[in-house]
Amino acid sequence: MFKIVKAEFLAENIKRFEIEAPRIARKRKAGQFVIIRLDDHGERIPLTIADSNNDRGTITIIVQGIGKTTKALNAKEAGDTILDVVGPLGDPSHISNFGTAVSIGGGVGSAIAYPTAVALKQAGNFVITINGARSKDMIILEEEMKSVSDEAYITTDDGSYGFHGFVTQKLKELLDQGRKIDFVLAIGPIPMMSAVAEVTRPYGIKTMVSLNPVMVDGTGMCGGCRVVVGGESKFACVDGPEFDAHLVDFKNLADRNRTYSDVEKAALTAYEHHCRLDKAAESLKTENQ
Ligand SMILES: Cc1cc2nc3c(=O)[nH]c(=O)nc-3n(C[C@H](O)[C@H](O)[C@H](O)COP(=O)(O)OP(=O)(O)OC[C@H]3O[C@@H](n4cnc5c(N)ncnc54)[C@H](O)[C@@H]3O)c2cc1C
Ligand code: FES
Repeated sequence: MFKIVKAEFLAENIKRFEIEAPRIARKRKAGQFVIIRLDDHGERIPLTIADSNNDRGTITIIVQGIGKTTKALNAKEAGDTILDVVGPLGDPSHISNFGTAVSIGGGVGSAIAYPTAVALKQAGNFVITINGARSKDMIILEEEMKSVSDEAYITTDDGSYGFHGFVTQKLKELLDQGRKIDFVLAIGPIPMMSAVAEVTRPYGIKTMVSLNPVMVDGTGMCGGCRVVVGGESKFACVDGPEFDAHLVDFKNLADRNRTYSDVEKAALTAYEHHCRLDKAAESLKTENQ
């Protein structure tokens, strides 16, 4: 059992957890993830290690509640436990002193981009961060991103905060200004990562993306996370999750991620139905007391 020592919402549906996991905290590197299972009947889901604290023996994960498991996790509070936390998994980010490095996070992708932005800064890069979301209330880790940036930008799709537009437009603006950029890391929804790849391709800028295929075991055994990179099959859990954006077949990834959407929808509906029943039973109990 792994104890949650801190839990707080950062934005609607996005929650940050600090979890006791001293061995993972000691070993983890930027870009790596854990696979968690909430209980005996739970599915395994991958979540990036956003941060760790060796003194407290904890790791931090940031979770967007989008389906059954992530919503059930986000209902947990400090003091609750998680049955399994396995990791650190995945190939760590390949960090060096590139020169000027741009770290781009879209939505909860900022949680995944943050540890790599920290590592890029520690390696001596001039770090530019572009932290984007649909609107002001969905921006996460603004202060954390700023603290590791030489230059930090916020973008919102609706213009409610920072630059009005997509992260790709901000990146293009910097390139149009003639800024010399040596490395780009982009993490977020598949269309966003694909669009970043197309912005940097004509400039020949080394660009990495962190892919999010369905993962089950996280050790290269099940084949669930197969992605196509440079025309070859790769397993994102052991060969990635970071890959050269200019070689990724994003259409194949998007198609594969839709494979289980009917089952996922049904699982979420059943979970929400159970939550409503639990709430009704709870209020009946209170009324009868
Ligand atoms: C390496 C990696 C790191 C990730 N890090 C984070 C993170 O730090 N924070 C965060 O909020 N999310 C992260 N994700 C995405 C997260 O794993 C999914 O949102 C989660 O699995 C959804 O499960 P669900 O039951 O809540 O939703 P479901 O309704 O079951 O699924 C919703 C969508 O999530 C994806 N998904 C479902 N099951 C899995 C699975 N077993 N493995 C991977 N994707 C799945 C699919 O695209 C699916 O369409 C990461 C994914 C990967 C591959
Ligand atoms: S998750 Fe099973 S092979 Fe990658």
